[in-house]
Amino acid sequence: MTDGPTIEQDPKVGVADFSEGNRVTTEHETDAPRTAPVLEIRDLRVAAEGREIVKGVSLALYPGELHAVMGPNGSGKSTLASAIAGKPSFEITGGKVFLRGEDITEASPDERARAGLFLAFQYPEEVPGVTILQMLRAALSEIKGQNYATFEVRLMLKDALADLQMDQSFADRYVNEGFSGGEKKRCEILQMTILEPAVAILDETDSGLDIDALRIVAEGIEKARARRPEMAVLLITHYQRILRYLEPDKVHVLVGGRVVASGGLELAELLERQGYDQFVPEPVG
Ligand SMILES: Nc1ncnc2c1ncn2[C@@H]1O[C@H](COP(=O)(O)OP(=O)(O)OP(=O)(O)O)[C@@H](O)[C@H]1O
Ligand SMILES: [Mg+2]
Repeated sequence: MTDGPTIEQDPKVGVADFSEGNRVTTEHETDAPRTAPVLEIRDLRVAAEGREIVKGVSLALYPGELHAVMGPNGSGKSTLASAIAGKPSFEITGGKVFLRGEDITEASPDERARAGLFLAFQYPEEVPGVTILQMLRAALSEIKGQNYATFEVRLMLKDALADLQMDQSFADRYVNEGFSGGEKKRCEILQMTILEPAVAILDETDSGLDIDALRIVAEGIEKARARRPEMAVLLITHYQRILRYLEPDKVHVLVGGRVVASGGLELAELLERQGYDQFVPEPVG
């Protein structure tokens, strides 16, 4: 293997961006001029239980882009995702979140979902007596503001289940009841496929998947993107394996609640080889 890029941190902003010129081309990219970001996070600060966890994060996802967020345990990745989704236990203490140009910093999780945001873990872990089909029908009707018939949703599920190589009987299983880890993850991608969000945030969708399931889930994400080319995806992951299938437009490294580097796939490969030691978080002040 040839030497990877070295990371130079800009002392002024603490972020090295060497993505330009190194940018991975994906089939989702078009020659159309970049208009406005579909998701924009400006200097976001998030606290939980009175402690600041996310300390000024800025990101901009343009239509069709896939950005990966990597970082060590406890660096604030899930907190960032939860804050973007509007989970009530997290307090946004500074900065703003824009979805399709609309300020959603203060919006409720439901309002965000209706505005086109999907967060993989926004739905209850286990819903007794409610099947996947019923849950998706309710979620679709709520998000799209129109009533969907059961047969319509069943038809949508048919293709989406086939894409994810899941049995058709899955539609009639109770939500998350007795699901294996891999089935839960596939179910998240299934939801994303059916709900057609403008922005999907996937937190550790690749954790606990075997090699084949990882490929199938990655392909499922790709198929969902192909069906809805303008959808942007923010993918939180610990492993660059899934990124090899997904070819992120950008990779961001979150350490100590800050983005300390942004780059292309080569940044994820560098992390896998060298770990996070090179990114020393600033002392907490
Ligand atoms: N509700 C909460 N109350 C108190 N502390 C919290 C809360 N949620 C998160 N934290 C703390 O914030 C820090 C960041 O947690 P977070 O879950 O965002 O990390 P992460 O980057 O997703 O880590 P991992 O890679 O392990 O999933 C941790 O120290 C965690 O204990
Ligand atoms: Mg996490």
